[in-house]
Amino acid sequence: MQRHFLTGAELDQATLAALLARARELKASPLGSDSLTRRVIALIFDQPSTRTRVSFEVGIVELGGHPMVTRSDELQLSRGESVRDTAYVLSRHVAAICIRTGADEAVRELARHATVPVINMLTAGHHPCQALADLLTLQEEFGRLAGLTVAYVGDGNNVARSLAILGGLAGMEVRIASPARHRLLDPPEAAVLMEDPRAAASGADAVYTDVWLSMSDDPRSAQQRRSAFLPYRLDEHLLEVAAPHAIALHCLPAHPGEEITAEVLYGSRQRIWVQAENRRHVQKALLEQLVG
Ligand code: CP
Ligand code: NVA
Repeated sequence: MQRHFLTGAELDQATLAALLARARELKASPLGSDSLTRRVIALIFDQPSTRTRVSFEVGIVELGGHPMVTRSDELQLSRGESVRDTAYVLSRHVAAICIRTGADEAVRELARHATVPVINMLTAGHHPCQALADLLTLQEEFGRLAGLTVAYVGDGNNVARSLAILGGLAGMEVRIASPARHRLLDPPEAAVLMEDPRAAASGADAVYTDVWLSMSDDPRSAQQRRSAFLPYRLDEHLLEVAAPHAIALHCLPAHPGEEITAEVLYGSRQRIWVQAENRRHVQKALLEQLVG
């Protein structure tokens, strides 16, 4: 059966550990592997991206491969060709298909019919490549993952779900504090759902947040969300109740003054910019594992 990476739940503990170890090697020697020489990887974007686009594209080139970046509106998908037929055709040309789109079902459908690996570059429900980078960042900081506590404060969204799936697999406690109306739906077993952001952050090794309005959310809910999430802002006061060594994380893009203060985003306790860099290293390790 073809191996895909749609939610992170495809990995077991040993595979995740090997992937992170390989990512550390690739970070130390970014041009040290030619595992994708002359292989073409399709990168399909249905939604905007800065980090995912750049980290995949550069990472594939570093591995000796060719990233074929397309927007869905350039494909016949936008004129009604089915996901199934798209999967059949792309599988005959490329070594893997990476896709960012809203609907999780579209990505599952692609994976059902593709004969090459499919990688989820973000859907409404999941962002597993982000969670891999989050874990690498935590591992670099603390030298381990098992036993760490991460407090995610804010919207119970794709980033929170993926953090809980992969963090749980790595043996971390993942607390997710959200207003009742924005709780994580269908939470992974490992997620500890809470409402109080201070209780969640209390004693945590890392405090993590994400945007209050995701790409798949109805923009008309922005105002309601802003007031609901105000108590969940990641600021110095929230960091004060975390462990003295606690770091601040954010998957980016950030809105300083909304879900995070500029003080934290650019301060000494953030590991947010290295977290953004780590996307490239983990995705290279993932591509090697699935394709190389
Ligand atoms: N974190 C993340 O996926 O960023 P982009 O939306 O810029 O790719
Ligand atoms: N939750 C955000 C993550 C962006 C990287 C979104 O889906 O828009």
